[in-house]
Amino acid sequence: MSAAPAVAARDAVARAEAEPLIRAEGVSVAYGKAQPVLSGIDFEIRPGEIVTVVGPNGSGKSTFLRAVLGMVGASAGRVWRAPKLRVGYVPQRLHLDPNLPLTVARFLRLLQPLPDAEVLSLLARVGVPGLEGRSMGTLSGGQFQRVLLAQALAGRPQILVLDEPTQGLDQSGIAAFYRLIEAVRREIGCAVLSVSHDLHVVMSASDRVICLNGHICCQGTPHVVSNAPEYRALFGLGTQGALALYQHNHDHNHEHGPGDDHLSDHGQSPTHSHEGGHDR
Ligand SMILES: Nc1ncnc2c1ncn2[C@@H]1O[C@H](COP(=O)(O)OP(=O)(O)O)[C@@H](O)[C@H]1O
Ligand SMILES: [Mg+2]
Repeated sequence: MSAAPAVAARDAVARAEAEPLIRAEGVSVAYGKAQPVLSGIDFEIRPGEIVTVVGPNGSGKSTFLRAVLGMVGASAGRVWRAPKLRVGYVPQRLHLDPNLPLTVARFLRLLQPLPDAEVLSLLARVGVPGLEGRSMGTLSGGQFQRVLLAQALAGRPQILVLDEPTQGLDQSGIAAFYRLIEAVRREIGCAVLSVSHDLHVVMSASDRVICLNGHICCQGTPHVVSNAPEYRALFGLGTQGALALYQHNHDHNHEHGPGDDHLSDHGQSPTHSHEGGHDR
C-alpha cells in the first residue's frame, strides 16, 4: 500500500483550508439585451483543485469560464479573484492563418518575453521537444494543443483554464493530453478548471465535476455526478460503457464545495478505495 492516499487526504484538507483562487456568487451573464445565458452561478475553486465543467453545446460553458476570468461582465452577482492571480488560459478556438509566418518559439513569446532555454524546456515539458523552429501552421492538432498548453504554462499559472482543449483529438490523444495535464498539475501544483465533452476521460481526473445547463444542474465528485439524476437527464444513459471507465475508487474523502450539498442526499458514500482505478 503506497502513501498516496494519505498524501491525497492531506492535500484535500490543505485545499479546503486555503482561500479560493476564484469565487463567484449568484452570477448571471447576458449578452446584450438577450435573456441571460447563465444565471445564479455560485462557484469557487481552491489551489490545486481539478474542476471539470460539462454540459451540452450552448449550455454556457465557455461563457462560464469567461465570466469567472472577468472577460465578460456579470449582469448580476459578483466574481472575486485572488489578488494578482496568475491564469493560464487555453481558449476553445484559436484560428491562425496557416500561411502566417509565425514560429512556435515566436508564438510562445507573444504574451511574455522568454529566454531560449525556457522555450525549449516548456516544449519538452508538454511532450513536443524540438518544435521551436516550426511554423504554427504546419503543426498537427495534437501538437498545436500542446503548444497552446505550453504558452499557458509560460506564466507559471496558479490556475490553468482549459476550454475543450482536446477538441479534434482522437481517443488516445485525448487520454494522453489529460495525463499530461494531471502530471503538470502534480508538478507545479496549479488548479485546473477545464471544460469538456470528453466525459469519461476527464471525469476520472477531476476532484469535482460541475454539470452546467444555463445554471448549475448538479456538482460533486465524478462518482456522485455520474449517478445524479440531473446529469443522467442531460447526457442520457448512452454513457453506460464509459461509466465503467470513470468509476475509479478512492479511499479518501473529497472535500466538497458549498454548492453541492444537495448531492450528498443521493446516498453516495464519499469513502471508497483508490487501488488501481485509473487506467494509465
Ligand atoms: N459573444 C456572444 N454574443 C452573443 N451570444 C453569445 C456570445 N457567446 C456565446 N453566446 C451565446 O451564449 C450561449 C452559450 O454559449 P457558450 O458559452 O459558448 O456555450 P458552450 O461553451 O457551452 O457551447 C449560446 O446560446 C451562444 O450562442
Ligand atoms: Mg464552448
